[in-house]
Amino acid sequence: LFMRQVSGLDMLEHQLKEQLQIEHVIVVSGDSDEAEEVKTELGKAAVTYLKQVLKQQSTIAVTGGSTMAAVADAMTPLNQNMECLFVPARGGLGEQVENQANTICVEMAKKAKGSYRLLYVPDPLSEESYHSIIEEPSVREVLHYIRHADIVIHGIGDALTMAERRKTPADEMKKIKNGNAVGEAFGYYFDKNGNMVHKVRTVGLQMEDVKQAERVIAVAGGKSKADAIQSYFNQGYSNVLITDEAAAMELLR
Ligand code: G3H
Repeated sequence: LFMRQVSGLDMLEHQLKEQLQIEHVIVVSGDSDEAEEVKTELGKAAVTYLKQVLKQQSTIAVTGGSTMAAVADAMTPLNQNMECLFVPARGGLGEQVENQANTICVEMAKKAKGSYRLLYVPDPLSEESYHSIIEEPSVREVLHYIRHADIVIHGIGDALTMAERRKTPADEMKKIKNGNAVGEAFGYYFDKNGNMVHKVRTVGLQMEDVKQAERVIAVAGGKSKADAIQSYFNQGYSNVLITDEAAAMELLR
């Protein structure tokens, strides 16, 4: 089941690249909704790819989520001459600690033998606190690294699954539902055409920053995420997708 059937997966990669109009697609076999091992494989594929594109002094912004946790799990030491810096893309977004970007960032950096900087801010934030916190020198410094990240690596989630997992307050939930959100990435919720319908107020990476990053890598698999993946790529800020066979087949249906 987990062996690469070369021609089949290559074909899916090629077709998806065309459909999503992006630079690179990697498809691993299986369905991560059904088997945890497939998520592990997604993590490994992401690490292999990341290592191919890293430059000597890259700054890598990483998001939270269980898929990114699998990427951190799969990380191995980078070459000795590499001086890479890992930073969390955005705040905790209401996730449990193990799913937060800070947690995953530390893990990834340690395994890579790279360095890291974290964001110590409560989250989500009121409008007022947001504006004063981003002026704090220690926060500003980390924000500078985040905004100038060379590589962003992130998960994509089904909008309602994510909103519920994050215990989203009722008024925001309403906005997400009324806006017919289907996909979510780094705290932004998108409808099926890729229009942003809601954004969690937190420090860190904003959509403008994603646009300027050299490489934006989405890692998301499972048949249940197909619509979310399509919605996210409809606004097209990421140029690489690492996914699994089940999501790929559903996307191409
Ligand atoms: O933003 C997307 C979510 O973090 C994805 O979470 O990898 O646990 O499905 P997940």
